[in-house]
Amino acid sequence: MDSDRNVVDRVIKGRRSIRAFEDRAVSRAEIEDLLEIARWAPSGSNSQPWRVTVAAGEPAERLRAALLEAADGHTFTAQQAEGYRNRIASGPMAWMLDQIDEPVDRYLTRGSMSFYGAPVALVVSYPGTAGSTTPAGIPAFVTTLMLAAEARGLGTIWLGWPLGQPQIVRSALGIGEDEQLGAFVALGYPDRQAPVNRARAPRQAPSTFSRWIGWNEGAV
Ligand SMILES: Cc1cc2nc3c(=O)[nH]c(=O)nc-3n(C[C@H](O)[C@H](O)[C@H](O)COP(=O)(O)O)c2cc1C
Repeated sequence: MDSDRNVVDRVIKGRRSIRAFEDRAVSRAEIEDLLEIARWAPSGSNSQPWRVTVAAGEPAERLRAALLEAADGHTFTAQQAEGYRNRIASGPMAWMLDQIDEPVDRYLTRGSMSFYGAPVALVVSYPGTAGSTTPAGIPAFVTTLMLAAEARGLGTIWLGWPLGQPQIVRSALGIGEDEQLGAFVALGYPDRQAPVNRARAPRQAPSTFSRWIGWNEGAV
């Protein structure tokens, strides 16, 4: 039976970071629909601090080119690249090594900076100057948006790398210093044949990250 529980669980477990996209545009109406749902995310004192810049077409391509240029200008030394590859190989991203056919350091940096070829980049910012407390509402908003996208057959990936170049992001998208950059999300239709989209990043069992206090043995 498709109870709320089943549907919600399926959407949460079905979402995964998408690293290959179809060459297919996402319409403005589809993204407006996502924002309509994502705005129901919780935020401190209902501050709703999110500001979303939705980039496609020419501005998105300019941003992609500028970020890639920055990535290529900061190549790792052979030793740094090897260290990075070793960390990936021995960590929770090791599953990826079998799904890609280039060195993982290059794949992740260039892929992230080019938002894996997604047609749309969403930058979630929030009002405030440097040093203002990070509004926890931003991750809540982004997570809600990503789940809404999953439920609509759209693919997303949250990307940390591009925000390592805040001036490039700001100038390409016209985001002023009166806003802080909170999150960068790529959006598009997933390429469902791509091996990297088919594999699942593993998770720890709850017993490894939970601590129970005040629960008697056998208590329900
Ligand atoms: C704050 C944040 C930053 C991330 N930055 C990147 C990134 O720059 N490049 C990338 O390929 N994935 C990035 N990811 C995706 C994570 O690698 C991914 O969520 C994690 O491996 C779990 O896989 P899943 O999303 O497929 O379940 C980021 C995720 C989060 C939440």
